[in-house]
Amino acid sequence: MTELKNDTFLRALLKQPVDYTPIWMMRQAGRYLPEYRATRARAGSFMGLCTSPDYATEVTLQPLDRFPLDAAILFSDILTVPDAMGLGLYFADGEGPKFERPLRDEAAIKALAVPALDSLRYVFDAVSSIRRALNGRVPLIGFSGSPFTLACYMIEGGGSADFRHVKAMLYSRPELLHHILDVNARTVTDYLNAQIDAGAQAVQIFDTWGGALTHAAYKEFSLAYMQQIVAGLKREADGRRVPVIVFTKGGGQWLEDIAAIGADCVGLDWTTDIGLARARVGDQVALQGNLDPNALFAEPAAIEAEVARILAAYGAGSGHVFNLGHGISQFVDPAHAGVLIDAVHRLSRPYHMA
Ligand code: CP3
Repeated sequence: MTELKNDTFLRALLKQPVDYTPIWMMRQAGRYLPEYRATRARAGSFMGLCTSPDYATEVTLQPLDRFPLDAAILFSDILTVPDAMGLGLYFADGEGPKFERPLRDEAAIKALAVPALDSLRYVFDAVSSIRRALNGRVPLIGFSGSPFTLACYMIEGGGSADFRHVKAMLYSRPELLHHILDVNARTVTDYLNAQIDAGAQAVQIFDTWGGALTHAAYKEFSLAYMQQIVAGLKREADGRRVPVIVFTKGGGQWLEDIAAIGADCVGLDWTTDIGLARARVGDQVALQGNLDPNALFAEPAAIEAEVARILAAYGAGSGHVFNLGHGISQFVDPAHAGVLIDAVHRLSRPYHMA
């Protein structure tokens, strides 16, 4: 195995000393980059990028060729998993992801099963290909959606403003939703372990919609299944710990609970103060976040001021991975992402002088 030339990200996740605060950005490979749009045009479609290890490798590396980011993230999508379960994923132009066969009746739900991992071989091939291309530059992050977030798309059949079908099932037929969540949790465990086998050096669980649940429902329908996954993950590869990051968007009120499920790091959206979050979780986990992604629409001086504020709020010492509080917008000027990354690296050094 090639030596890692920059392991700052992995060290920060384990709260080991670092020289500066590492940064990566959710959705760092994507439409805000003209080179991504060019490759996507050549591939013909977004799924064309995901299913070709060569294209997936090319777009994964694009943001790293432009910016001194501290981690790469596998280029793929959380919805490859329900697609492998037979729901028929497609992307209608300008409408986001959709499923041909959403889970709406009891028979379809009872028939849902953990798919053969071979149907996701293209993802694991992309992971191996990206690891080879990175050649130790920075660590590679693998990922999956959380069981609940996947279920939202599987039941609604696409994005939703109100999750009416999911919520109806949750309140009137909770046992059906639990069946879906159990199948999802077992699938995601196998899927992430296969990504780790293929070369992923850290993994993140994206719980984008957990924050749409009530306080009472969050633990039962989202957190419990993420805990089951974390408990089933391989935590070491090549003699190094493979850290796990759990990110619930809108999860600020449940930080202590999230920190207790056994992950190494908790991701924060932009609504939580990272200093208060640190006080709440103590030494249990590292924290990732949490610039408002829309701060990147401001002028460079304002972006720097927000970075300075977040770094000061976290304070001295390791355990902070800088990120956005959610994915970068396609309308952001790439130069502004450059300003952010430079500011994090430059302004964080004083916080790491032992
Ligand atoms: O972070 C990265 O750079 C890695 C790649 C990545 C994508 N999707 C690429 C993508 C990751 C980690 C995801 C995760 C994902 N996908 C989530 C969880 C994270 C989050 O953002 O909340 C969700 C909910 C999805 C489902 C999904 N995929 C949606 C809702 C959309 C449409 C969104 C949009 O901006 O149009 C996608 C498509 C998608 N996934 C794109 C990219 C770069 C845009 C596709 C395109 O090129 O048109």
